[in-house]
Formats: sequence, structure tokens, C-alpha cells
Amino acid sequence: MAATQSPTHTLRFDSRLRDAKLFLREAVRTFRATGSVVPSSPALAAALTRHLSDRSDPAPLAIMEGGAGTGPVSRAIARHMGPEDTADLVEANAEMAAHLQGLVESDTDFDAARDRIRVHAAPVQEVSRDGGYDLIISGLPFANFTAEEVRGVLEHYFDVLKPGGRLSFFGYLYTKEVKAVIAPREDYLRQARSGWVVEEYVNRYGTATERVVANVPPAWIHHLRKPLD
Ligand SMILES: C[S@@+](CC[C@H](N)C(=O)[O-])C[C@H]1O[C@@H](n2cnc3c(N)ncnc32)[C@H](O)[C@@H]1O
Repeated sequence: MAATQSPTHTLRFDSRLRDAKLFLREAVRTFRATGSVVPSSPALAAALTRHLSDRSDPAPLAIMEGGAGTGPVSRAIARHMGPEDTADLVEANAEMAAHLQGLVESDTDFDAARDRIRVHAAPVQEVSRDGGYDLIISGLPFANFTAEEVRGVLEHYFDVLKPGGRLSFFGYLYTKEVKAVIAPREDYLRQARSGWVVEEYVNRYGTATERVVANVPPAWIHHLRKPLD
């Protein structure tokens, strides 16, 4: 007997397909800022939201997502938000931010939390919150940025994090090795320099690093924590 899909399953699939089509279109148009051709996988979104899904303390959290794109991680954030958590989803690409706003308003993944989620169509460096954030999850493509841009973003994240607050961000495995073979020398050197800034922050504030192979391309995640004083 042929398997049938429930209407909810079909709607979810259609919604994810629309996300992926917009992501690909914007990646072709603005690859430097987008950094990938497909949205993050559910496995990567789950690993990035670990501090939400595994929390033991029920205290409300102020969350920021930097570079939310078409929302795969935003969906996971919304599903794991506690009843008093708030989230600022920040996306610099106007088309993607508008798409994300539509998802927040009508997609079932956001049902339980939509009145506590705000979409900001802005660069992450321009968004802050009185009292700061407990958790920042970042999807910005640092490997495509200059060292100065990476430092600017990380400094901003640490400015707007509360003491003890956490930052989780990801990048793709082996991009430096691939660039060493196929990219112009200046681009390889630019990425090496921006990688050193990431390393400096990870060495200073890192608490854990993990690999997620179930993503295209496979990714690493760094989890960092701002000191209490
Ligand atoms: C690699 S994609 C990740 C998108 C999404 N979080 C995901 O996991 O599929 C990077 C996203 O960061 C956005 N972006 C790049 N620079 C940004 C900035 N300075 N502020 C906010 N968003 C930015 C891009 O437009 C893009 O949507």
C-alpha cells in the first residue's frame, strides 16, 4: 500500500522548500554575506540550540540570533523557548528578513512564542538590548569576512552579552584547506587571518567545540562563555 503524507507534513515540507529556494537565490546574488547555498540542517540547528534544549535552570532567557537567514535555527529556537524567554532574530538581508517575519507571523513552529520574538532587518552590529543577552546564536559566515569584520562582530557580541552569557557560532569544515588549493592567495590569506581572530576568542572564552557532519557542508560549532566579571 502506498504511504500517504499528513497535510501537516506536506505543509512543513512546502514551507522548508520555500526557505531553501529563497536562500539559494540570495546566495547566488550575495555569496560573500550568505556564505552557503543551503540553509542549515535540523542536526546543526539542534546542536546550536543545545543551551536552550538542555537547560536545567528555568529562569527566562534573552536570546539573540545573528544572521538568521531563512530561519532553520530560528525555528529550533522558537520550539525550545521557555514561556518567558524573548528572542531577537537579526538578519541583514532585507528579502530574508521579510521572509523570516512572515514565518514568525504564520508558521506553526513559532506558535508558542511568536509574541516574544522580534525580527530585525539590520546588521547584527546595530542591534542591542537593555540589560543584554543571555544567549547569542550566530550564523554569520566569518570565513568570508576580513579579520577586522570578524573582530568587530565578536567584540559587539561580547559587549551585548550579559556576564556569564553564552555565544554559540558555526562555520564549515575544511574551507581553509579547499581554499589553499583552489582560491587566489589573497583570499586564502584573508581567511587565515579571520580564522586567527576566531581562534583568539575560542582560546580565551571557549567552553566546547563540536562537529556536525549531518549538514551541507559539514560544520564545526564553538560554544563560548563571557566571564562573570
Ligand atoms: C551562513 S548563512 C546562515 C543562515 C541561517 N542562520 C542558517 O543557519 O541557515 C549567514 C546569514 O548571515 C547573514 N548576514 C551576513 N552578515 C550579516 C550581518 N552583519 N548582520 C546580520 N546578518 C548577516 C546573511 O545574510 C545570511 O543570511
